[in-house]
Amino acid sequence: MTRILGIETSCDETGIAVVEDGRRILANEVASQVAIHARFGGVVPEIASRQHTRCISQLTQVVLESTGGPPDAVAATVAPGLMGSLLVGVNFAKALSYAWKVPFVPVHHLEGHIFSALLTDDAPDWPFLALIVSGGHTQLVWCAKPHEYHTLGATRDDAVGECFDKVARLLDLPYPGGPSIQKAAEGGDPHAYAFPRAMAKVDSLDFSYSGLKTAVLYQVRDGGGNTPDLAASFQYAAVDILILKTRLAVSRTGAKHVVVAGGVAANKLLRERMAQDLDVPVTVPPFALCVDNGAMIAAAGASRLAHGMVGTLRTTPVPTMPL
Ligand code: KG4
Ligand code: ZN
Repeated sequence: MTRILGIETSCDETGIAVVEDGRRILANEVASQVAIHARFGGVVPEIASRQHTRCISQLTQVVLESTGGPPDAVAATVAPGLMGSLLVGVNFAKALSYAWKVPFVPVHHLEGHIFSALLTDDAPDWPFLALIVSGGHTQLVWCAKPHEYHTLGATRDDAVGECFDKVARLLDLPYPGGPSIQKAAEGGDPHAYAFPRAMAKVDSLDFSYSGLKTAVLYQVRDGGGNTPDLAASFQYAAVDILILKTRLAVSRTGAKHVVVAGGVAANKLLRERMAQDLDVPVTVPPFALCVDNGAMIAAAGASRLAHGMVGTLRTTPVPTMPL
């Protein structure tokens, strides 16, 4: 039995969790800063790192009290993310690992999102195809085996979550944009506006979301329209392109299983259409594992530990790093 403490502080969620044998979540606590950043319309990095500092010890204590003594290793997100935020989690993790004399395991944030699928009841067997959709990333990744990843396509400009956030601002909907657009779209007509599907006709697995954002901007500025119809049509177009490119990636790779992970995987329409429109089984983790959390970092950390991929006190965070 191996217990890993997972620490996630790359953006605006402090996530602390303990996972047993890389599969069983014993505790998973998240302190979200969404309400704090909402009035600024986006994450303010300096406020984020201060907030992580403010709550990381207490959250860890709560988790440890419910799961017993020190774990067998401490895993933390080292990249990519906001530098100040990453520093809080990594330095905290290294201090705990030194004090407890257990390994420190550095984890890439996107690998964490991939491993969130392995914490579910319908976990895929390797190899599988992963669509990672978050505020900072939109990527199709061939997951050949643990820790061997091939990026097949990625966004050339905005990430899909970022696009949801920017379009929400255009429509005067609150931050974060994803959930508020989803809510506003409930009463709207998804076919009211024919927003563009960028790269749809191009034989590439890359994405582009800046044109879609601009199309909504022009519609709002020049033509107006009601918010539910605009939100529904935007959401439908944004999801459509994810489905289209994922289907193309399945046919190219012959993937037998697809994983959808990251904050945007919480989107109801995306979840429904993934289940309907793909010809292979799709695993979309429950909401709590889609948004940033410590359990996914602990799960990835458990596998890294088993493969001897541990860090040292000299390991430092990196704000940008490919998977
Ligand atoms: O993975 P995540 O929690 O943080 C990053 O690593 O970026 O993803 C956050 C992103 C935000 O852009 C947010 O608007 C989006 O996920 N999001 C959603 C939904 N819930 C969160 N997007 C669409 N529909 C949702 N229901
Ligand atoms: Zn994330």
